[in-house]
Amino acid sequence: MVRDTIFSPAFGNRPSQLVGRDVILRQLLDGLMAVPGSKERATLLLGQRGMGKTVLLWEIAETVREKNYVVASPTIVSENMLERIIEKIQEDSEQYLNKKKLHLTGANVGVMGFSAGIQFSREEQETKSPEYRLARICRELARFEVNVLILVDEVQANSAELKRLIIAYQELVGEGLPVAIIMAGLPASVSQTLNDKVLTFFNRTRKLDIGPLNLRDINAFYEEAFSTLHIEISSDLCTKAAEATLGSPYLLQLIGHNLVLSASSDSMTVNQDVYNKAIKASQNDYQEDICKTTLAPLSDRDIDFLRAMSKDADTSKVFDIAVRMGVTTDYAQKYRRRLLETGIIEAPRRGVVAFAVPYLADYLRRS
Ligand SMILES: Nc1ncnc2c1ncn2[C@@H]1O[C@H](COP(=O)(O)OP(=O)(O)O)[C@@H](O)[C@H]1O
Ligand SMILES: [Mg+2]
Repeated sequence: MVRDTIFSPAFGNRPSQLVGRDVILRQLLDGLMAVPGSKERATLLLGQRGMGKTVLLWEIAETVREKNYVVASPTIVSENMLERIIEKIQEDSEQYLNKKKLHLTGANVGVMGFSAGIQFSREEQETKSPEYRLARICRELARFEVNVLILVDEVQANSAELKRLIIAYQELVGEGLPVAIIMAGLPASVSQTLNDKVLTFFNRTRKLDIGPLNLRDINAFYEEAFSTLHIEISSDLCTKAAEATLGSPYLLQLIGHNLVLSASSDSMTVNQDVYNKAIKASQNDYQEDICKTTLAPLSDRDIDFLRAMSKDADTSKVFDIAVRMGVTTDYAQKYRRRLLETGIIEAPRRGVVAFAVPYLADYLRRS
């Protein structure tokens, strides 16, 4: 039995290798290097479950720590998030300082000053608002030309906590401080915006969609990974495995891992049987972990629409869907719009829709 040291399908897990995200990482980095106050310093990363949003946030954190940035690592939208963010900035500032000290010769009074400046007095801690303390620490870091990046995960547009953070962030920007923010979430959770303040901010924010990975990148990664693990696979089956991921990073991990598992109980070779078994297992896992959760928040009517779509092999005409649902085309259009907003379906052409979540059609046909 071989130990799978390469693939590990789990949400938020840093992959052993980040496949095919060079372009988006560059876009994010360029945004962070823009002058304080630029629009690109606030970014909203949108993508379906398993598309690699959380992993990208961690990756960017690591990269910019090397570029005079102090980072509040990804904080999930939740109660007290502002306090958590301040703690993380303090913690990261200390690490930053320790690293800087290693490179200093002799005592450096300047850096020692910064060290004191990131602590709060008891009075400040007890009587001042988190907004006050956040601004205080950002100003202190700015004096030493240190930038601050705030990372927010699982954005919920209607959250009061997020609204509070955004107002605080806008005040920091207003002061001309070198701050930046990257937020990640499902397209659905930002489209149901109830909150004006958040909506206005989102409208002015740069939006980056993270879509499927390039299949060629996945294929190249698979070839290398299987060879490292001493697993034999024909280039034909390897290409097929890459295609079966449909570009989803989560499926990339699942299929890779299941291929390793089934090959290792079969003399370390992927033959057609081993391949079929692994793909089947991966699709089941994917449908349980992703398709089920994707459908959970939808209304019965939304699901009727999707079921009507699943009758077609590939794309569906809105007209046909309406007929299958027994409703007028106008009525069906309402659901089409809602589902498009959630990113679960896409509209390749006028009057035509297609599933945007891998294997969702198959899941609906079977459930
Ligand atoms: N670019 C990538 N290359 C390889 N694996 C990735 C990549 N992005 C994400 N993954 C893997 O995919 C899975 C889902 O990633 P995650 O960041 O949790 O997705 P999301 O936050 O969008 O739901 C994890 O197992 C992760 O390791
Ligand atoms: Mg995530």
